[in-house]
Amino acid sequence: MSDKVIIFDTTLRDGEQSPGASMNIEEKLDAARQLARLNVDVIEAGFPIASEGDFEAVRQVAAEIRDGRAIAGLARATNADIDRAGEALKDAVSPRIHTFIATSDIHLQHKLRMTREQVIERAVAAVKRALEYCDDVEFSAEDAARSEMDYLCQVIEAVIAAGAKTVNIPDTVGYSTPMEYGTIIRTLKERVPNIDQAIISVHCHDDLGMGVANSLSAVMNGARQVECTINGIGERAGNAAMEEIVMAIATRGDIYGVHTGIVTTEIARASRLVSDLTGIVVQPNKAVVGANAFAHEAGIHQHGVMANKQTYEIMTPESIGLPENVIVLGKHSGKH
Ligand code: KIV
Ligand code: ZN
Repeated sequence: MSDKVIIFDTTLRDGEQSPGASMNIEEKLDAARQLARLNVDVIEAGFPIASEGDFEAVRQVAAEIRDGRAIAGLARATNADIDRAGEALKDAVSPRIHTFIATSDIHLQHKLRMTREQVIERAVAAVKRALEYCDDVEFSAEDAARSEMDYLCQVIEAVIAAGAKTVNIPDTVGYSTPMEYGTIIRTLKERVPNIDQAIISVHCHDDLGMGVANSLSAVMNGARQVECTINGIGERAGNAAMEEIVMAIATRGDIYGVHTGIVTTEIARASRLVSDLTGIVVQPNKAVVGANAFAHEAGIHQHGVMANKQTYEIMTPESIGLPENVIVLGKHSGKH
């Protein structure tokens, strides 16, 4: 059996950080129910200290989704944030506190105004405090992709020793490339002595359109959790799109050699729901879930798919929960 890649959905947290994408609690609960139908492994429901609404959303999602999948709340590496996340998750069946602090020099100097040593101390203290609330603690090294490699290794070793079960290596600003990002993951596996005691997670933003490619490169180099959002919504240009990652892994098992637990036939419904709830329209040519993703207009293609769908379809519309492909009769269709 191939390795499983854990799907950590952050539509309700990073996705909701898309300009104009705010959802109220009822809407977040609707989305969370659909994420459960999709069978994501982790639902990041919000950032409890950010607002009363986020706190309530995390609390209510944890109260509603009680089937054992993890419900995560985000917290900066401060006592106040972690205590608030712990409080929001206190009745969850499988709570996860996700704590983070930046590790790149640019963030340390200009945002945190902390030394590297201070950041390590803070990260370790945050993990230990989160462990007072739950066993399942994830640590993120914000802006990891722009962090100095030796320092990143030291931080990751320290937080694993402190008890983090998942270590997330975000490309916070979508700056990396598939080759470079894969190398970061491989280097962590080679150099961090206790890396086997944690799952390596990746979290890629899409500023240069590389979010999905970077995530998949990380999987090929040993990452076993991918953080992503439905329709790729998220801060700025968005996050890696869940449907693209899941269908790439499903379609190209020969290359990736891993699997996910996602019920792919729920993908189309999830995409429509998130678009309706957030008002963010899915572009027609979007991979997997765009209106044209299974539409054929060129006559040669129509002829091909009518003879055998595999001529121009590498996955079926049914596999993502659509009834059938669409033959568009347009000027490219020809007479045949
Ligand atoms: O992009 C990022 O670095 C984040 C972290 C909080 C995980 O969203
Ligand atoms: Zn992010």
